[in-house]
Amino acid sequence: MLTREQNELIVRVGPGTPMGNVLRAYWLPAVLSEEVEPDGTPLRVRLLGEDLLAFRDTAGKVGLLQHNCPHRGASLFFGRNEQGGLRCVYHGWKFAADGTCVDMPNEPPDSDFPSKVHAIAYPTRERNGVVWAYLGPSATPLPELPEVEWNLVPAAQRYVTKRVQACNWVQAVEGGIDPSHSGFLHAPLHVDLSTLSPRDRYRLDKRPHFALLETPYGLRIGARRTADADRYYWSVTHFMMPFYNAFNSGSGDDPQPSVGGFAWVPMDDTTTMAWCFTWNPQRALRDDEQGDHPRVRSGVHLTPSARLSLTSAAGGAWRPIANRGNDYLLDRNVQRTTRFFGVPGISPQDAAVQESMGPIADRATEHLGSSDSAVIRVRRLWLSAVGDALPLGVAAPDAYRVRAAGVVIDRDADWTTAAADWVTGQPGATSPVLT
Ligand code: FES
Ligand SMILES: [Fe+2]
Repeated sequence: MLTREQNELIVRVGPGTPMGNVLRAYWLPAVLSEEVEPDGTPLRVRLLGEDLLAFRDTAGKVGLLQHNCPHRGASLFFGRNEQGGLRCVYHGWKFAADGTCVDMPNEPPDSDFPSKVHAIAYPTRERNGVVWAYLGPSATPLPELPEVEWNLVPAAQRYVTKRVQACNWVQAVEGGIDPSHSGFLHAPLHVDLSTLSPRDRYRLDKRPHFALLETPYGLRIGARRTADADRYYWSVTHFMMPFYNAFNSGSGDDPQPSVGGFAWVPMDDTTTMAWCFTWNPQRALRDDEQGDHPRVRSGVHLTPSARLSLTSAAGGAWRPIANRGNDYLLDRNVQRTTRFFGVPGISPQDAAVQESMGPIADRATEHLGSSDSAVIRVRRLWLSAVGDALPLGVAAPDAYRVRAAGVVIDRDADWTTAAADWVTGQPGATSPVLT
């Protein structure tokens, strides 16, 4: 539980807010490279409560500009993206990707006024299909991009989708790092023990013991369950500042398993862009790990067939068909007979409960138990980052290369060093295979 004041402190992300300042110390995933084409349509982007426009200029550079023209405020969304800049349709002023005013055709040709006008333009960097943005103060030397592995592996080894979630980013992150809900929210009612992988068999234990390790990137989270008389099964996941998590995917018996992660990027105080990643450190993804394959559709990704038709609003390509307006397609009969929760698919299930807490969850009325230890510790990390000019992780980009794992080890063995090479993304490391 937090006081109302503490809650306000961590949930607000707009310009000038304490947590908004913390988030502005990090690079943020802003748009997918494929969403902006050279001289193509500008894309509305909402990030940390700011309305922005992303566009790719003729030479391929991505600009992220203030939404309103610095002249008299018409929306640059209507602009003409032509020959190295975005030209406002109202009076023709033109801005380059770095915000420089490069043409002012309704002013005298010898005027120096263009040199005095500058559009707010945030620095961008592009790496492996993702455009990153830095919304911090321009005087700050820029940190390096975090070395999140989903953004380092070749295109064939990753699948990235996004989903607009209608709630505050904090409750979304807290859903991502809460290892105790899967045995309920996402569980079937009946299981055939003979068909379960070892991992899924261990996971039938709904009362794991949690252990936490503070790291240079945030938190390593261990969930311990009994494997047999001598050994424990540990599920190792991660929270990375300020809003990432890494989790296990697949069945646990693949010698070259894919892994998963989220970036819960605040669009504003009550809307979150949930970036979802499946990646494989060793091999190309199979067909049943990407796109609209039924296995993927029932998982964490918002697959193409699960999206509403495109709009030009910010995040307009990534709105789920299953949403609050239709109770996330809840099927009460399925809930009676088949699944613990009758909403189809993991991410609609998560969205349903997270959005049902309200646009901004009230943490002053909660009752937290031992299973909430990761949530409690992550809140502490956020609160201690407030006011910190160099919050945790900003100066440790190489620490972000972590993956989730499931390991079975002797009861007296140390979970924090189990499968360490794999967990910390060392080159050539192999995944532990569960038996
Ligand atoms: S408002 Fe954009 S050029 Fe006048
Ligand atoms: Fe979940």
